[in-house]
Amino acid sequence: MKIKKIKIGGVETPNNVFFAPLAGFSDSAMREVCSLAGAGLCFTEMVSCKGLKYTPEQSVELLHTYDTEKLKAVQIFGSDETIMGEIAKSEHLAKFDIIDINMGCPVPKIYNNNEGSALLKDLLQAEKVISSVAKCGKPVSVKIRIGLTENDYVTREFARMVEGAGASMLTVHGRVRENYYNGEVNFVEIEKAKNAVSIPVIANGGIFSKEDAEILMEKTGADGVMVARGALENPLIFQEILGVSCGYSIADLVSIQIDRLSKRYGSERSAVIFRKQAAYYLKGINGGKKLKEQVFKSLDISEVKEILLSAVK
Ligand SMILES: Cc1cc2nc3c(=O)[nH]c(=O)nc-3n(C[C@H](O)[C@H](O)[C@H](O)COP(=O)(O)O)c2cc1C
Repeated sequence: MKIKKIKIGGVETPNNVFFAPLAGFSDSAMREVCSLAGAGLCFTEMVSCKGLKYTPEQSVELLHTYDTEKLKAVQIFGSDETIMGEIAKSEHLAKFDIIDINMGCPVPKIYNNNEGSALLKDLLQAEKVISSVAKCGKPVSVKIRIGLTENDYVTREFARMVEGAGASMLTVHGRVRENYYNGEVNFVEIEKAKNAVSIPVIANGGIFSKEDAEILMEKTGADGVMVARGALENPLIFQEILGVSCGYSIADLVSIQIDRLSKRYGSERSAVIFRKQAAYYLKGINGGKKLKEQVFKSLDISEVKEILLSAVK
C-alpha cells in the first residue's frame, strides 16, 4: 500500500497506518509498543466525557501517556454536546494533540445511553457534538461504523455531516452495529465515505496481515488504515505493512510493555492487567493454552514475563 503522511488539521502523522482505540487494551504501554513497531498514530481507548466530568478519578487513569508518544490522540465518547465541548477544552485533555470522537461503539451499555453508535441514527445530535468539540481548536477526528443494521447504511450522509461539522479526519469501520466485530468488511461503503469528503478517510476492519491492509486500501481508495485486533495478536504488523524494519522483536516489545506496566502498577496488579494481552500474544503458539493458564494464575509479573519470553520470539 502507498505509505504517506496524513494531515489532520494542523497535525501531521509520520505515516498512514494507525493503531485503533481498544477498550481494555490500548493503554499507554500498548500504544508505546505499537508506536515502536511503526504505527503512525495510536489512540487511547474511549473515555467517557460524563465520567471525566462527574467521576474523574476513575477515568483519568485512561488518559495516561508517555513523553515518548510524540503525537497524542485521545478518544472520547458521549452525546451531550455541552459536556463534550467542556471536556475537550479542559485540563484533562490539555496534553493531547488530536481528539477523536467515538460514534461506533455497539455495546448496549453505551448504545442505550444514546452514545457511541447510537449517534449514527441521530445526525443532528452527532453534528452538535462534533461542532461543540471542534470549538476547542484542536484537530478533531470521528470514528464511525457504516450503519446500525445491514442494508441501512448511513456512511455517505454521515461522512458529509462529519466534515461539515468541523472534523479533520474520519475513520470508517466497515461493519454495522448489529455485526459487532464479525463478518465481512464492506469496502463499498468505506469507498462512499472516501468519495463524499475531502478530509482524510481511514479504513478500518479485518486487517490481520499486510495483504489485508493492501486489499482494504485498494478496494476503498482510503488514505490510510487502522489496525485493531491484528495488532493485539502481532504488533509487528505495523512494520510488515510499512515494509520498514522497526528494529524490535516481539520479545523486545513484550519486555518493554511488561516493564512499563510493572513500573506503573507494581507486580501483582500489572500481572492481572496484562492477562488479556498475554492471551493474544500466546494465541496460535505451540503449547500456548497451557502457558495461558499459567499466566492467568500468576500474580507475579516477573514470572509472567518469563513465561511470555519463553514463548514469543
Ligand atoms: C475489545 C475491543 C475493544 C474496542 N474498543 C474500542 C474503543 O474503545 N473505541 C473504538 O472506537 N473502537 C473500539 N473497538 C473497535 C476497534 O477499534 C475496531 O474498530 C474493530 O475491532 C474493527 O477492527 P479490526 O477488525 O481490525 O479488529 C474495540 C474492539 C474490540 C474488539
